[in-house]
Amino acid sequence: MIIGLLIILAYLIGSIPSGLIIGKTFYNKDIREHGSGNLGGTNSFRVLGKKAGFAVTISDILKGTIATLLPILATLIWNIDIEINPLIFGIFAVVGHMYPVFAGFKGGKAVATSAGILLGHEPLLFLIILAVFFLTLYISKYVSLSSMVAGLAGLIYSLILWDDKLLIFILAVLTIFVVYRHRANIKRIINKTEPKVTWL
Ligand code: G3P
Repeated sequence: MIIGLLIILAYLIGSIPSGLIIGKTFYNKDIREHGSGNLGGTNSFRVLGKKAGFAVTISDILKGTIATLLPILATLIWNIDIEINPLIFGIFAVVGHMYPVFAGFKGGKAVATSAGILLGHEPLLFLIILAVFFLTLYISKYVSLSSMVAGLAGLIYSLILWDDKLLIFILAVLTIFVVYRHRANIKRIINKTEPKVTWL
């Protein structure tokens, strides 16, 4: 019962459409109608500028981190032990981020919220994928490609160095989400129509 409630709560936290809220409140813009149409940090940078881009990215990261902390919250409030891996709640936050009930189920591409899950629980892996992300971005200038390469690098790292099958499974699910949500970007990269960042 409690686990079900926490899963719903994790999904609702993930569903908070930071890009939409910040865009509409401070810039009077729905970022889904501009740029790539994606409700994420990259499109917020593109459409709204640096300040909003950072704010949306950090909010989206925090959604993943907070969702994985829900079991601790349950212990504090109800004094019960939740004996399932907290990263499972993170996955539901990512589902909310991709398909937000508060924004017509049209959300982001799973990158920042997935990173947020790792931030609290696997900080070393978080730093590694961050480094892979920026290295790929420096070389390719594609944010989308860098996001997918970083996700795959995290999965390969876990396959080589971890024994915990559940953790590896969770990383595999997150990587599949990231690649699946970048289908349109992959087509654009192949057709050479994907926009590159200009600031690097
Ligand atoms: O995090 C999303 C990013 O990888 C791509 O975003 O807006 O260029 O499709 P966008």
